[in-house]
Amino acid sequence: MARVRLVAGNWKMHGSRASIAALLDALVKANPRSCAVCAPFPYLAQVAERLRGSAIAWGAQNVSEHAQGAYTGEVSAAMLAEFGCRYVIVGHSERRQLYGETDAQAAAKFAAVRKIGMTPILCVGETLAERDAGKTEAVVARQLDAVDFEKAVLAYEPVWAIGTGRNATPEQAQAVHAFLRKRVPAQTPILYGGSVKPQNAQPIFAMPDVDGGLIGGASLVAKDFLDIVKAATT
Ligand code: PGA
Repeated sequence: MARVRLVAGNWKMHGSRASIAALLDALVKANPRSCAVCAPFPYLAQVAERLRGSAIAWGAQNVSEHAQGAYTGEVSAAMLAEFGCRYVIVGHSERRQLYGETDAQAAAKFAAVRKIGMTPILCVGETLAERDAGKTEAVVARQLDAVDFEKAVLAYEPVWAIGTGRNATPEQAQAVHAFLRKRVPAQTPILYGGSVKPQNAQPIFAMPDVDGGLIGGASLVAKDFLDIVKAATT
């Protein structure tokens, strides 16, 4: 059985009701398969409503590791599931770097998402200093091995490629994906993320162990996102 292809948009902290309505209109009109959008929390109900009956799935960008309780500002997996959420990004490098999230927290969030039947998109990736020091494999292995990984999507996102306009070469991505492939169940989709654009997507997605992408900036522009989805599925 072939592995599932998936292109997930990570909108990060961008958008408004109006801009998201316009973006969703364009996506629903094209209605591609094998894609998902991960929206900021306040817009999830709007996204769920607009995507109902379409082929496009949706997800959240973060979740609490706790089931419920006195955790001001946090959102539980059960709350997301109640709206029909399918994916949750876990361990994104911005969470790790800017909010101090640890491997242990990523593991707990991953478990919370799995427990309620949603699919985590676990992000791993090395910084430029770690790559230059020859530590890429050790870092992604540590981030992955911290998690009880099953029934999930894995995303390789080199930190130096995120939002920088400097994507990994197809060969660099393939090398890390092949390394990760040996450490996860056979059917696991492994996405590449980091400055994927319509212009560079095709050769990256053509690599044997790259099953799609996690797209930041380019996922905010309907045509760019749709072109990237097309590059992953044709
Ligand atoms: P980018 O972000 O495509 O803007 O580099 C990717 C990500 O952070 O998931």
